[in-house]
Parts: sequence; structure tokens; C-alpha cells
Amino acid sequence: MSDVNTPAEIDVLRDTLRRYNYHYYVLDEPLVPDAEYDRCYRELERLEQQNPGLISPDSPTQRVGDKPLEKFSQVEHEVPMLSLGNAFDDDDLLSFDRRCHERLELPSDEPLSYACEPKLDGIAVSLLYRAGVLVRGATRGDGNTGEDITVNVRTLPSIPLSLQGAGFPEILEVRGEIYLPQDGFDRMNDEARIQDKKVFVNPRNAAAGSLRQLDPRITASRPLVFCCYSVGLVEGGELPQNHSEILQRLQSWGLRINAESVCVEGIEGCLAYYRKLAERRSMLGYDIDGIVFKIDDISKQKKLGFVSRAPRWAIAYKFPAQEEVTILEGVEFQVGRTGAVTPVARLKPVFVGGVTVSNATLHNFDEIGRLDVRVGDSVVVRRAGDVIPKIVQVVIERRPDNSSAICVPEHCPVCESALERIDGEAVLRCTGGLFCGAQQSEAIKHFSSRRAMDIDGLGDKIVQQLVDAGQVRHVADLYKLNRDQLIALERMGEKSADNLLAAIEASKRTTLPRFLFSLGIREVGEATARNLSSFFGDLNAVMAAEKDSLEQVPDVGPIVAAYVEHFFRAEHNLEVIQALCDSGVVWPVIVTPDRSSQPLLGQTWVVTGTLETLARSDAKQRLQDLGAKVAGTVSAKTTKVVAGPGAGSKLTKAEALGIPVIDERALLVVLAEYE
Ligand code: IVH
Repeated sequence: MSDVNTPAEIDVLRDTLRRYNYHYYVLDEPLVPDAEYDRCYRELERLEQQNPGLISPDSPTQRVGDKPLEKFSQVEHEVPMLSLGNAFDDDDLLSFDRRCHERLELPSDEPLSYACEPKLDGIAVSLLYRAGVLVRGATRGDGNTGEDITVNVRTLPSIPLSLQGAGFPEILEVRGEIYLPQDGFDRMNDEARIQDKKVFVNPRNAAAGSLRQLDPRITASRPLVFCCYSVGLVEGGELPQNHSEILQRLQSWGLRINAESVCVEGIEGCLAYYRKLAERRSMLGYDIDGIVFKIDDISKQKKLGFVSRAPRWAIAYKFPAQEEVTILEGVEFQVGRTGAVTPVARLKPVFVGGVTVSNATLHNFDEIGRLDVRVGDSVVVRRAGDVIPKIVQVVIERRPDNSSAICVPEHCPVCESALERIDGEAVLRCTGGLFCGAQQSEAIKHFSSRRAMDIDGLGDKIVQQLVDAGQVRHVADLYKLNRDQLIALERMGEKSADNLLAAIEASKRTTLPRFLFSLGIREVGEATARNLSSFFGDLNAVMAAEKDSLEQVPDVGPIVAAYVEHFFRAEHNLEVIQALCDSGVVWPVIVTPDRSSQPLLGQTWVVTGTLETLARSDAKQRLQDLGAKVAGTVSAKTTKVVAGPGAGSKLTKAEALGIPVIDERALLVVLAEYE
């Protein structure tokens, strides 16, 4: 409904949304939950739809245009976008400071004030504000001519469509970097992998690719961030006389600045800052390739001026590169605890990310296919922070004639069992299960752990000794150990051996949930083991269950069901289970609930938002007691959604899929009816 108050209401909503946005994207201090932002946004959208005449281009709803561009047009930078001189060691930085002192005719013991900022590893952009309204966004290009990417920069929530506050110059060109934080990059690549699309090599390439889109809707879907670090053209207004104060001013007008930016005294302060940030580099959550030091005083900057295409008053002290090229000399296969076979690249040693790297993970065989990598290739190795080095790209032009394909092995390199791939999974697994040496010690440690079979005194070191000596090959062998074998182990006295034997004996009396958990079936934790036990009641029924009936178990989805079914179809595992039962492992019989008392059997419910009278865990338990499966996500298979206040995307999805939604009161009625 529109009335005379609508324009005012729209204004209030826009201001509110801009404020929420500013706190979230510029200050990193959210004011309200996402659901509240969404509610205001939807309300504004509704009012604007009803009153199209009131839509303004700087409304928060108008970020994403819906027409792709034909091509990008060119933009001339009135003030060229320059680059920076580099320092690669402390001496380079000290020389820079000395040069500044000399040119400024300052005594060498009078420290200069330096603004220190991370050198963000993204794409340089220029944003032009006229009378506080964003009128143009452009790439750096060659520094003189860039591309007009206005429609794309408008989609970034960290870029205000209009400046807030007052006092900004009539024309203000803000410069900064657009980059992709690590988590956004990982999410984007995870999605690309699922959809079998090309993955990006690193966050910088992903940011560049995302900005180069002619369709702004694609850019809008990428979690890009803008952070400013300087100004270009400024007309019709004054800015402060220090770089650090200019940045503060930009922040007050709604622009994001880097949280690590500080001002220090003297080049010693710069060195200390460099070391501190180098240590924290991998924890920042975004890639930086060095530190930029700028003389803070603008009048000193002006005195120093420029040389070729770089300022004399600033320098970038680079960190060791995180990507280097080397040769792939071979590939080996490692078997992990769960039997996953990982291809490991053997590399010609290369210094990258501050260490010499000679191995890198190739993840799995899909990855090998995607990279199209062969032995002998020149490859780009990336080591960011303490993350395991990985191959991210092949330099195809350098492929030698004698390069050789990487063959997928058919047998486990440790136990020679066949390798197999579960449908829909990229990972190749050893079918040796509890028989595979690589999996043995880890499986045994898990089996005997406190929450599994709880064999007190069987520590990791003892397990390793037993496995290495060939005395225990799989978990059932634990029950065949004798006193002499134990006493023969390092640092094992008679008393400890007796205690351990007693603990092994005591562990035989267990429960079905503990037993199922101890088997180390993938994704079967304690809760799932409990649910399997109470649903099926006895081991034979769990072992015989097929995927469909397994999926009826609360919290068991198709993936877990497949793992369980798969585990109990492997001959090796059945032999181990038989041996365990033969050695006297027992548990009390479980009384399964009467199926007729489970009126919600076969139904899948989702609980979302806040519940006012029931604790969420109680609601879940009571629904499960009635036979329902309670899932965490809404899908076409969902029977009903219980939505409380603050429900967000799950509710939206349920509505979109036409799934019945009830509130807490209606849930209580359902529970009362059946319980
Ligand atoms: S100042 C005239 N500050 O590094 C000085 N640049 O070689 C202009 N960069 O592509 C640059 N973080 O996009 C400056 N905090 C920072 C920066 C930064 C990244 C990029 C910039 C340019 C390159 C300069």
C-alpha cells in the first residue's frame, strides 16, 4: 500500500540498510543478524516495486543491473595510476629511508613517520565520486587507460553507491584494491568442482576473472571486497595533510580501509611492522604479497615527487613469493587412515613461501585430470602460509616431448588390495579396510579409544610397536595378545602388562553403539552409531540393512548410508567382526521402540529459527522419538518445516519448494497428539 508516507519510509529503509551495510562490510562489526537485514531489504524492494517512480540509482536494491554489457569501454585516468618500487630485503628498505632523508634534507637521526599497510594481492581499481555519488569504476589498465567496470563495482557491498556524512570534495577519486578473501575463494572453487567447472588458480586470478565479467550478475555472485589505499583526482574540497588521516576520512565517508593499517615512527618501526605481519600473513584470511610503506606527511610526499612511474615516497617490501615454477619429477601414492589414496607430487626442490618444497599434494585423480598434469611438466607450486603445498597449474608451453601420463593405480601400494571409487566421489580408496597396514594402526587406536572400546593403557606408542612387530594386524588380534608378548615391548613392566591384559578383557563387555563406533566406519560418529543401534536393535540387522532402510535412520543421509552399506559388504570387515565376536565381545540386547508408536516414520522434518517454549534439541528428540528424521537442510524430500522467529534461508527455500511450514504452536499440537 502506498500513501503519503511512503517516500519517507523508503528513505528510512535505505538509510537503515546503508548503515547495516557500512557496519558489516566496512567496519566488520555487524549491527543486526542477517535475517533482519534481509527483512528490511525485502520491505524496501516491496515498496519500490509498488512505487517504481521512487526508485533511485543509489538505492541498495539497485546494485545489480540485469543487462550484460557488449564490451567494456575505455577510461582515461586523469591522474595516472602508478606502480611502486620494490624492496626485497632489509637493506633495500634502509636505503629507501636514507634516500628520503637525503632528498628532504633531513638529519639521518630524525625519524620519518611512515604509514604501513599490507600490499593487497588483488586488482587495482579507481572509483570516481561526483557530489558523493559513485559515477564510475575503472581498472588500472596500463596506468593511463583502463576499462570502465562501473556496472561490476556497483555490485560490491563494500563499495558505497553514495558517500555518507559530509565534507567530501565535489570530485573524489578513490583508489584501492578489489580482492577475494580466502574463504570466498575456497567456496567458489568448491562450487566449481561440484559443477565440474574450471577452478581458479589463486584468489587474485579469481578476483580478476570475476571483475572481467560482462554480466554484472556474475560479479555480484562473487564475494569480492574493495579496500581503499589512496586518492587520485580531488577537486572542489580539501583532504587532510597526512595519508593516515585521509584514510580515516575515507572510512568515515563509508569506504573500507585495511584493518592492519598503522602509522609508525622511523624505518625501525617499519621493519618491526614487516616482521609482525609476515608472521601473521597466513592468518589474515586474504592474500598479501608484501607491505607498503608510505611517508605519511603529504607535503613531504609532494617534495619527493616521482621517478619514472613510481613515487619516491613509498615502497613495497615484498614477502617471499607463494607461487613458483618447478618440475614434476614423479608421483607416488600414499594411503591414509581411512584408506584414501592420495597422489603426492615429487618435485624438483624449489624455494616457495619461505621454505624449500619437494613434495606437493595432488589431492585426487579428478584434480590430476583437471590440471592435465604429466610427469616431466613444469608446474606452478603454491604454498600459502602453513598450508600443504599444492600444484595449481601446468605451464603447458614448457611441456617436454618425453612427458608421461600419471597412471591411476589399481592396487593399494601398501596391502595390494583392489582400489575402488564410490560413485560421486573423487577419492580412490583401498578396499583392504582393517587389513591394510596403512589403516591398521590408526584403526586400532580409534578402536581402543576411550569413547569406543575403552581399552585403558593401550597408548599410541604401544599400538605402533604392536603393529610394527606384526603382532596386531587388525583389531581382533588385540584379543589374542598374551602376557609374554606384552612384556617384550619397550618400557612395559609386568604390572603394566597385567593391567593392560585386564583392560583388554574388560573391554569385551561393551554396548552396541560403542561397538559400531569403534569399527571406524566413515562418518559414523557416536551419535550416528547410537541412532543405528536404536533403529535396528541388533548388529545383524545393521549389517544386512540396505541403503534405503539406512536412510530412514535419524541423521543418516544418502552419503552416510552408502558408507555403512559399503563397509558391511567388504569381506575383510566381516571377517574382523566375526573374529571379534568369537573372542567374546558382547553387548546387552537393545529393546527397539515399537514401530507402531512411530507415527512419523519415513517423514523428514526441519526445525529453523528460534523456538520459544521448547529447546531445539528437545523438539528434535521428540520428533525423532516419533520416528521422524530431523534434517539440517530443506530439500524436495522435506515433509514439514517448523519455523520460529528469525527463520531465514531455510524458510525461504521451503516456501519456494511449497513445503508445509508450521510454527511452534502447531508443532506442540502434533507432539501432544502422538505422545
Ligand atoms: S599505493 C602511488 N597501497 O600495488 C602508489 N598500492 O605497485 C600507488 N597495492 O597495483 C599504490 N596494496 O594496486 C598501494 N596498500 C597499498 C596497496 C597497493 C596493493 C597494489 C596497487 C598497485 C601495486 C603497486
